[in-house]
Amino acid sequence: MESKRSSFSGKIGFVLAAAGSAVGLGNIWRFPYLAAKYGGGIFLLVYVALSVTFGFSLMVAEIAIGRKTGKSAVTAFGELDKRFSLVGLVASLVPMLILPYYSVIGGWVLKYFAGVVSGSASAMASDTYFGDYIGKVGEPLLWFALFIGVTAIVVLFGVEKGIEKVSKIMMPVLVALTLFIALYTIFTVDGAWEGVKYYLLPDFSKFSIMTVVSAMGQLFYSMSLAMGIMITYGSYIKKEISIEKSAKQIEIFDTGVAFLAGLMIIPAVFAFSGGDESALAQGPGLMFVTLPKVFEAMPGGTVIGAIFFFMVILAALTSSISLMETIVSIFMDKFKIGRRASCFIVLGLSVLLGVPSSLGYSLWSEFKIMGMQMLDLFDFLSNSLMMPIIAFITCVFVGFVLKPKTIIDEVTIDNKFKWQKLFSAVIRYVAPVCILAILVSSILSAFGIIKI
Ligand code: PHE
Repeated sequence: MESKRSSFSGKIGFVLAAAGSAVGLGNIWRFPYLAAKYGGGIFLLVYVALSVTFGFSLMVAEIAIGRKTGKSAVTAFGELDKRFSLVGLVASLVPMLILPYYSVIGGWVLKYFAGVVSGSASAMASDTYFGDYIGKVGEPLLWFALFIGVTAIVVLFGVEKGIEKVSKIMMPVLVALTLFIALYTIFTVDGAWEGVKYYLLPDFSKFSIMTVVSAMGQLFYSMSLAMGIMITYGSYIKKEISIEKSAKQIEIFDTGVAFLAGLMIIPAVFAFSGGDESALAQGPGLMFVTLPKVFEAMPGGTVIGAIFFFMVILAALTSSISLMETIVSIFMDKFKIGRRASCFIVLGLSVLLGVPSSLGYSLWSEFKIMGMQMLDLFDFLSNSLMMPIIAFITCVFVGFVLKPKTIIDEVTIDNKFKWQKLFSAVIRYVAPVCILAILVSSILSAFGIIKI
């Protein structure tokens, strides 16, 4: 099988496919609520700084490892050095932790789309709608089942190509729409400018270690890094494609979408809550509470809201498909089973982990581990624990075992590598030291040993 790996046809094909995986709920749902919660402008600044250094270096390293070995993450590490085989396996497990709760959120988006289309837009704009909705037992489970079901069907029948084509056309529409909604709120709703200031002007007094911890976790999540995905994508690209340029393009696009999503949501939070701090800190519900109010205030808001939620569904689906596809192909390889069996196992596991994530807001809201309900726990385990560990080992592996030169040689087969000095320095020293510091503080805080 390995020898028959297909390649992406053109340069842009790879970038678009990787961007399809990268741009998803991470950008539109997760980034804005973290930016709102962890200091606005200062979060944005830290995020962008990390993205051009860490994000860039790790992305280049992963794509290069994939292209060099022609293997997916599970085997790529072992092929380069036997002692590191386990990293690939652990990295590949991260998508299995993310997919279930990702699909719960995907289900929320489906519900909101259905709500706007079926004429409940005004009801959805009320403060309590979202809380009441996720507090229900059955309905969120149904929408979750629909989301994961559609994802599984696409993966089972291998019709990703079709979805990808549609999403390529939709992606620019999503970007344009996000910008339009942002500008509409900023220029027409009172109080929105305060939010623009909060989001764009860094306030250094709001800086805390949590700003960096959350920005770094978000970076991995949003760019599909530290979970083997970019290694797998890298294994499909041809030698003449510039890894450096591709990494930059994927990053710029991904960060651009996240930036616009923040610009759409944060000023709206200010406008509709009068800059109330607790509204900014509300977490995962932020987009769902805020956007319906924007659509309510906008002429033609129902139509725009429907189109918007539909685009978000597509962006979320391309990401969930990429998550599921990764796990399915790993199970196929590892357990020597067929696609169908693998699909059913992954679907079963996703339901098993997704149901408690959904019920964590209703029936099981009392049940907490380390102070977190299940959805937050899966999010924490994958983003704040496993991904930093994998990123750390990847940096040490590339920096000291493989040596940056191996990656640089791979990148420069047919192209220049302009930022190679930055790459070497970041991957060897800056990244491992920072990641370790962050990891330790997030573990200590999770166990309540320090408060950050
Ligand atoms: N990057 C995706 C997002 O921002 C999530 C994702 C992670 C998708 C890993 C695929 C693989 O929504």
